[in-house]
Amino acid sequence: MKKFLFLSVSALLLAACSSKPKTAEVVEPKLCDAFPDYTIGVALNVNQSNEKDAEGVAIVKQHFNSIVPENCMKCEEIHPEENTYFWDDADRFVKFGEDNNMQIIGHCLIWHSQCAPWFFVDAKGKQVKPEVLKQRMKDHITTVMTRYKGRIAGWDVVNEAILDDGSYRPSPFYQILGEEFIPWAFQCAMEADPDAELYYNDYSMAQPGKRAGVVALVKKLKERGIRIDAVGMQSHMGMDHPSWEEFEASIQAFIGAGVDVQFTEVDMSALPTVNFGANVADTEEYSAELNPYPDALPDSVSAEWNERMTTFLNIVDKYAKNVRRVTAWGVTDADSWKNDWPIKGRTEYPLWFDRKGQMKPFLVERMKKKGLM
Ligand code: XIL
Repeated sequence: MKKFLFLSVSALLLAACSSKPKTAEVVEPKLCDAFPDYTIGVALNVNQSNEKDAEGVAIVKQHFNSIVPENCMKCEEIHPEENTYFWDDADRFVKFGEDNNMQIIGHCLIWHSQCAPWFFVDAKGKQVKPEVLKQRMKDHITTVMTRYKGRIAGWDVVNEAILDDGSYRPSPFYQILGEEFIPWAFQCAMEADPDAELYYNDYSMAQPGKRAGVVALVKKLKERGIRIDAVGMQSHMGMDHPSWEEFEASIQAFIGAGVDVQFTEVDMSALPTVNFGANVADTEEYSAELNPYPDALPDSVSAEWNERMTTFLNIVDKYAKNVRRVTAWGVTDADSWKNDWPIKGRTEYPLWFDRKGQMKPFLVERMKKKGLM
């Protein structure tokens, strides 16, 4: 990683005043200092939270003040069988955040994807009755949240339950419990840790249908006295989406419904778009023309990509008063899930640090504007 070296004023004074000058204190600029209004987060894979990826860890410690686990708290990882919880990776993730004085976010409690298969069926493989699923949801939410009570600042309680047209996703949760599964999840979460923030999180939030569905959900929860603190706009973006007008309209609509917003899984594909959403199950076949930059991103594409990221941040900043957090979905381009989704084996460039660990130009520009570089 390129190092940006600065001499702090105190170090300069010290060096100037001391009769025996010592090596000056080196203060490296922190990305999160360029964003004083909200936290700047990053999703950690287990190699990072287990401190095996030394380069990735160095970037995280230097630049971010919030972390979220990319996978290790998802149901299939943390609760693979009804009576088996696997805590090792999640425990280390939380400890990493505490050791480094970071805001720690939990992702995610109720999601149809990466949910352990046992969740919806009985011992004979038959779909469980509504009351059984409700109890399982409560047990899962309560057990996981209680373990990290007081240590995790906020949870994605329900992830991706609403489709682009605003209707409910026909997931097993919905098929068994109907739309009531969402208020139930928030109710359980609210009781499990009354001090943790609670979020609804989804992709393609610029879609007018999804926007309306999420606004209706927020209102319904609030009317019933069930707490929801913020809506998470995942923000998996591309060179041709989202429409900034629609994106901004959604931010306004969510704030108007009485919640804060956060940008929870930020990445921007630089490759041809084959999927406008982020539904993990929607994949496409590999072809060379859909992987046009296997060696390096051309300067012209990189310039456009950086410009789009600046536009994104400018919009976020307009609503800073109601923005809690902006989180990148991975540390460097090499870590991104987008290298394998929606097409396996492409070379992607969607994150904030490149494969060499260098900060991308749109952030360098911001740091300079803030006098940090
Ligand atoms: C992705 C992870 O990045 C991948 O490693 C995993 O294989 C699939 O899930 N929406 C979400 C995230 O809420 O949890 C997903 O993360 C990306 C889409």
